[in-house]
Amino acid sequence: MTQEELFKKLIAHCKEYGFIFPSSEIYDGLSAVYDYGQLGVELKNNIKTYWWDSMTKLHDNIVGIDAAIFMHPKVWEASGHVGAFNDPLIDNKDSKKRYRADVLIEDWIAKQDEKIEKECTKAAKRFGESFNKEMFLQTNGRVLEIAAKRDEVNKRMADALNANDLVELRQIIIDCEIVCPISGSRNWTEVRQFNLMFSTQMGSVAEGANTVYLRPETAQGIFVNFLNVQKTGRMKIPFGIAQIGKAFRNEIVARQFIFRMREFEQMEMQFFVRPGEEMMWWNKWKETRMSWHRALGFGDDNYRFHDHEKLAHYANAATDVEYNFPFGFKEVEGIHSRTDYDLGRHQQYSGKKIQYFDPETGESYVPYVVETSIGVDRMTLQVLSAAYKEEQLENGETRTVLSFPAPLAPVKVAVLPLVKKDGLQEIAMDLVHKLKFSHNVQYDEKDSIGKRYRRQDAIGTPFCVTVDHQTKEDGTVTIRERDTMKQWRVSISELEAIVAEKVSMRQLFEKLV
Ligand code: GAP
Repeated sequence: MTQEELFKKLIAHCKEYGFIFPSSEIYDGLSAVYDYGQLGVELKNNIKTYWWDSMTKLHDNIVGIDAAIFMHPKVWEASGHVGAFNDPLIDNKDSKKRYRADVLIEDWIAKQDEKIEKECTKAAKRFGESFNKEMFLQTNGRVLEIAAKRDEVNKRMADALNANDLVELRQIIIDCEIVCPISGSRNWTEVRQFNLMFSTQMGSVAEGANTVYLRPETAQGIFVNFLNVQKTGRMKIPFGIAQIGKAFRNEIVARQFIFRMREFEQMEMQFFVRPGEEMMWWNKWKETRMSWHRALGFGDDNYRFHDHEKLAHYANAATDVEYNFPFGFKEVEGIHSRTDYDLGRHQQYSGKKIQYFDPETGESYVPYVVETSIGVDRMTLQVLSAAYKEEQLENGETRTVLSFPAPLAPVKVAVLPLVKKDGLQEIAMDLVHKLKFSHNVQYDEKDSIGKRYRRQDAIGTPFCVTVDHQTKEDGTVTIRERDTMKQWRVSISELEAIVAEKVSMRQLFEKLV
């Protein structure tokens, strides 16, 4: 099965089992907008708890807020989003399809990497065991030629984006002979800038109404509340403010399911530091955030950093944490050193002094900011992609399983009476009522026990508990572990503690401190 087929299967699985549905599906959906179903919302909430608690509970100098989505329109002038939150778009005149110019070029660059990989595969076949990939990459003429062209185009693109040179962006597309994937033609329009913010009107009378924006990032709600939180919380620098909330972007190219959406959720933390210390904190937060990802156990090699060549208008350093999705390594989280840009601009635009008096140095200054910014939906897709498996069993059957880390699983335990008679259902229901105070529990009595196990595997339930005739005699039940499919008997009186220990977030948090 190719990675593309695997990804299609995952999307279908998410719908079939109530994780994620297209928005307004009965009206044929709305492009790049999705709804979370009964299991998706539980998974997403668990991811949010993992992030929120790791920020606000494990760090005694980080507190949370929940700011409004609507903000004063001047916020977005001050932040630079009205002027500079643009993507370069280009249309193909034949297919009438619209693309992001930089994405077309990035796709071309990715194709060069694929070409190099193909050369390696061919050479490996030719040379057999004596093949040395590293040496081949450094010495083969054809590979060096492709790599040089790729690097040159990459640099031209970064320079053009930094200089906002739309003519050069178009020229790169022409020079690389990039064709429209739909029409196959090179009949391109000029490249234009397109602002990604959604706007609407606030106020009842159209003439007197103000244009307000749906926030494109949650961060600004934190910046405008910097003084409120610092003063009321008596916070001392360095300290952080965390927030989870919706953000909106009118993305030109929305694709890859919930990877790039027009309405999405962010988990952002702005960490306020002394000027001059931002690089030290940026490096520290890179490490901290990478540990948070790796603690989930999806394999360290599936994560990497990607430093930005083109910096956002507010940053002096930026990196992405990338995950190895079925469609390649892509950004899950950004870690940005935002300097004093945002607080400085809000000071300027609001006319209010936004400074911190540092009791240790006796100086007042506009703090510098290091931010960590991760998309909830993208993280959900990361967890789903990593967890989805199709396994071939010894008896020849295939089982589909979502191997979620137990603390993130939507349902923690399923209680299953072996048969629908002899009082087993009543005992099972009693168990459900006991466990439901601590865990999300499902009761299922329909179909054979094997089929019920498969249903729970498919939604990622880490434990199934079966009540059978022996339960009536000695008060024990069978507990079955999802990944190993191992079963063992435990006494009902111990069950709650056993499950609690295995599904607790504590085991993740202990890896972080
Ligand atoms: N405050 C900084 C900021 O918003 P960003 O790199 O534009 O930085 C941060 O976004 C994270 O938000 C990304 O790493 C991604 O996880 C998520 N994100 C951004 N745009 C998104 C979209 N259209 N759909 C889903 N998630 C998105």
